[in-house]
Amino acid sequence: EKGGYEHFMLKEIFEQPKSIHDTMRGRLLVEEGIIKMAGIWDHVERFKNANRIIIIACGTSWHAGLIGEYLIEEYARIPVEVEYASEFRYRNPIITDKDVVIAISQSGETADTMAALKLAKEKGAFIYGICNVVDSSIARITDAGSYTHAGPEIGVASTKAFTAQLTILTLIAFKLGKHNGNLGNADFMSLISELDAIPKKIEEVLNTTHELVQNIAKDFINATNFLYLGRGYNYPAALEGALKLKEISYIHAEGYPAAEMKHGPIALIDENMPIVIIAPKKGHYDKIVSNVQEIKARKGKVIAVVNKGDQQVSAMADYVIEIPETSECFSPIVASVPLQLLAYYIAVYRGANVDQPRNLAKSVTVE
Ligand code: M6R
Repeated sequence: EKGGYEHFMLKEIFEQPKSIHDTMRGRLLVEEGIIKMAGIWDHVERFKNANRIIIIACGTSWHAGLIGEYLIEEYARIPVEVEYASEFRYRNPIITDKDVVIAISQSGETADTMAALKLAKEKGAFIYGICNVVDSSIARITDAGSYTHAGPEIGVASTKAFTAQLTILTLIAFKLGKHNGNLGNADFMSLISELDAIPKKIEEVLNTTHELVQNIAKDFINATNFLYLGRGYNYPAALEGALKLKEISYIHAEGYPAAEMKHGPIALIDENMPIVIIAPKKGHYDKIVSNVQEIKARKGKVIAVVNKGDQQVSAMADYVIEIPETSECFSPIVASVPLQLLAYYIAVYRGANVDQPRNLAKSVTVE
C-alpha cells in the first residue's frame, strides 16, 4: 500500500497535489466565484459576530493554526488567538458564548484537544472542527466543521494533513472575508484562482526539488543542530520544518521568527550551524536579506528556500532551493514541501525509522 514508495511518509509527501485538490473539491468553485462550505455558511453569523476566534491544537496542527491566525486576521479581520490545547485547558481561560473555538486535529482523537473543546463547549462557545479522520471523537463533539479530506495519513510525521489544514483555513479566511466585506470581490477572485493553481505548483516543486533536496540532505547527516527561520506566514512554516526534522531524524532543531534571531539564537551561529531560511519574494524579503547577511557574517551554513530567479539571498546562501512565486498567504503551503523532503532524507540517511519514529504515536490519546 506504499504505492512503490519506500515509506508512507514519502508517499504522503508526493500525494499533496492530490490531497490539496481533494480538500478543495466541491468547495472552491472558481468559475462561479464562490467558496461553498456548509459548516461555515450555516453558522456564518456566529463567525461574523464572534468576539474572537480561538484556535486550539497540538503539534503540527498547532502550526497550521498559527498560519490560520495570519490568514483569518488578514482577510476576515476577526481577532484570532492560537493556543496549545494542553495549556488552554489548564489555565482557566476566559471563554464566553461570543467566542468561536476552532479545533484542528488530523486524528480527531488527541486527548488534550478533546478536553479543551469540552471546556469551551461547557462555557457556551461555538465549536468548529477541522479534522482529517471522518467520524472521529473531535469531529463528533463539535457543533460544525470541515473535514480535510487528505485521505488516511499513516506516517507519524504529519505532511499531507498539514497542507490540507492550511487549505481549509485559507478557504475559511477567504469565505469569511468575502462575507463580511473585508475582502473585495476583485481580490477574492484573484486569490481563489491562485489557490486553485496551488496543487499544480506543489507538483512542480516535487518535480524540481526532489533530487536536489536529496543531495543537500547528504551533507547534513552528521549535523547535531539546525535552526529554521522565517518571517510572517513563514514563521510557523519554520516551526513546522524544525518539528519534522526533530521527530524523524532526532536532530535537535529550532524554529524561530527570523527577526528574533538577534535576541538570542544568533549566539549559536558558527560554521557548524545549518540554518534553513524561508525567503520568498512576497514575505518581507528585504528584511530576510539582512538576516542572511547577519548569518553569513558568522559563517552559518545557509539553506535557502527562495522564489525562482531569486538573486540576493541566493548569492549568499550555501544551498538554494527554488519554489514558484505565490502571494504571501500561500507560501507556507509551497515552502513546506521541500522542508518535508529535507527532514525525510536526512532521517533516511541516518537510518531512522521514518514512519514510526521512537517514542511517538500517530494519535496521542493520553495527556
Ligand atoms: O491528530 P492531531 O493533529 O491532533 O495530532 C497533533 C500532534 O500530535 C501531531 O501533529 C504531531 O505533532 C505530529 N507527529 C507532527 O508530525
